[in-house]
Amino acid sequence: MGSGELRKRFLEFFKERGHSVIPSSSLVPGNDPTTLFTGSGMQPLIPYLLGQKHPMGTRLVDSQKCFRADDIEEVGDNRHTTFFEMLGNWSLGDYFKEEQLPWFFSFLVDELGLDPQKLYVTVFAGDPKNNIPKDEESIAIWKRLFAEKGIEAKDVVLDTSEKGSELGMQGARIFAYNAKKNWWSRAGAPENMPPGEPGGPDSEVFFEFTQVEHNLAFGQNCHPNCDCGRFLEIGNSVFMEYKKQENGGFEKLVQRNVDFGGGLERITAASNADGDVFKIDTLHAVIQKIEELSGARYESAFQQSFRVVADHIRGAAFMIADGVLPSNTERGYFVRRLLRRAVRHADKLGMKQGVFAELVSPAIENYGEQYPEIKEQEQLIKETIQKEEVRFRETLAKGLKEFEKLSGKGISGYEAFNLYQSYGFPLDVTLELAKEKNIEVDRDGFQQEFQKHQEVSRTGAAGRFKGGLADASVETTRLHTANHLLLAALRQVLGEHVHQRGSNITAERIRLDFSHPQKAAPEELKKVEELVNEKIQEGLGMIKREMSKEEAQKLGAEMEFGIKYGDVVSVYFAEDEKGNVFSKEFCGGPHVKNTSELGKFKILKEEAVSAGIRRIRAVLD
Ligand code: ALA
Repeated sequence: MGSGELRKRFLEFFKERGHSVIPSSSLVPGNDPTTLFTGSGMQPLIPYLLGQKHPMGTRLVDSQKCFRADDIEEVGDNRHTTFFEMLGNWSLGDYFKEEQLPWFFSFLVDELGLDPQKLYVTVFAGDPKNNIPKDEESIAIWKRLFAEKGIEAKDVVLDTSEKGSELGMQGARIFAYNAKKNWWSRAGAPENMPPGEPGGPDSEVFFEFTQVEHNLAFGQNCHPNCDCGRFLEIGNSVFMEYKKQENGGFEKLVQRNVDFGGGLERITAASNADGDVFKIDTLHAVIQKIEELSGARYESAFQQSFRVVADHIRGAAFMIADGVLPSNTERGYFVRRLLRRAVRHADKLGMKQGVFAELVSPAIENYGEQYPEIKEQEQLIKETIQKEEVRFRETLAKGLKEFEKLSGKGISGYEAFNLYQSYGFPLDVTLELAKEKNIEVDRDGFQQEFQKHQEVSRTGAAGRFKGGLADASVETTRLHTANHLLLAALRQVLGEHVHQRGSNITAERIRLDFSHPQKAAPEELKKVEELVNEKIQEGLGMIKREMSKEEAQKLGAEMEFGIKYGDVVSVYFAEDEKGNVFSKEFCGGPHVKNTSELGKFKILKEEAVSAGIRRIRAVLD
């Protein structure tokens, strides 16, 4: 079965059970400052799990785009990917265990036709320290469900993975593990949760790939949470009914929720009884394209490189579609890492140079209907990838030579940082090369150098021009306000991927650096200019408001990447009398009171600064 078909069936199954289908949120969390990327289906729904009313009701279902940055280094085995789709259904204070477990079981067995003999489940063993009981209700429900299929389901307690490999399966089908395995919250186990965080016991379903023999490298005996690859987790029902208190204990949430998440690709792999997620339709289409462009075969010693390229190129495509462009800071650095690591593996496969960006075509084709943004941004995606490849290649060969020179011994933090700084090698690439040569890299040393450098460049910039302003004269202040209007206009005309990457304002002119992968067309610049002049004529007020950094981020105020902001920040709003906001930016001022003070705005020049960064010079007449 294809994953598109499976996704459709899942949504339909829960629609028939009273759920409203909601669209996937962006990979960039809109209101969750705790993580850089959306990594689970529940993140965009936090306010509703805490009790706020959702406009679509108390039963929701979706397929959410997810990116787990922590898994980058795991990619290469048969089941880890950075990007994936998480199927989700939610009860927001509506149904609970009695409905959730039978529904998911029925979806797997009756709807998809999975053999119930190959399904194993885990439940929460309880947490005496926090007074949270063992999940006996789920155990009773699972026993009944298996019995209905003629299977006697014995339950045992394993508690930890270590005990699991010591004790093994013991002929059981229901396994109780402690909070390390069967408790879910964004922060993990109960002791890691900050006050106010919701979480709860969960019950996971595993599919057994009987063709995979247990590998002793992973422990004496196999059990559902063993990492040998015989068991694959395909779905997790979280019974989210607790909230961490200030005093470290737990209280019940105002409502009992269900947060279900299941990896679409993993469920597809299970329904095809093949444990390699790279063989399902969407990923396999990319693998085939790699075969075509490289002449290498997937079923070979190069399998790992195929998987890295397929995963990374797809992940980068989805990130770029959501406005995250390669850069050296924050989110953008993950895209850069994905693409550069993928280029190196494509080279290992002997792929011709210059065709790398073509690898995204099958992903765009397969996902365009479900996630229109990837189709709409096709050109941006291809151009960005192409540029990143070219840019990396400018130093790749020299960097490899440099690496060879170092490779007799271990690589110090300073040397790893130099490979990054001078040759554009993300740490992952250096680590991988080192692994191939069997030498060590000083990771901590690299991080120290990295931080040291970032501090130095930040201080340097601050010394040169405070907040980007050369002085606080009237002329400079007017241009500063115009700079805000210009950034907002660029975002409106060119797209939300545009962010400020630097600015320098004198009494004569604005110089604004911003993220954008290609030259802005003359018509686009004309539109930007017109929009700024329109806003000047409308006479918008420049209003300063103080708020917490979280609040400002929630409002979507623009902030410059790489700059540290304090806990209380000021945000400047350009808005009309009715409160319609045209621009909002983290900023210390100064600004004019009203945009009508600015005069006529004119763009003089647009040019490249570096890969993905453009510069505009503009003046006020
Ligand atoms: N939120 C749960 C998970 O991500 C379903 O596993």
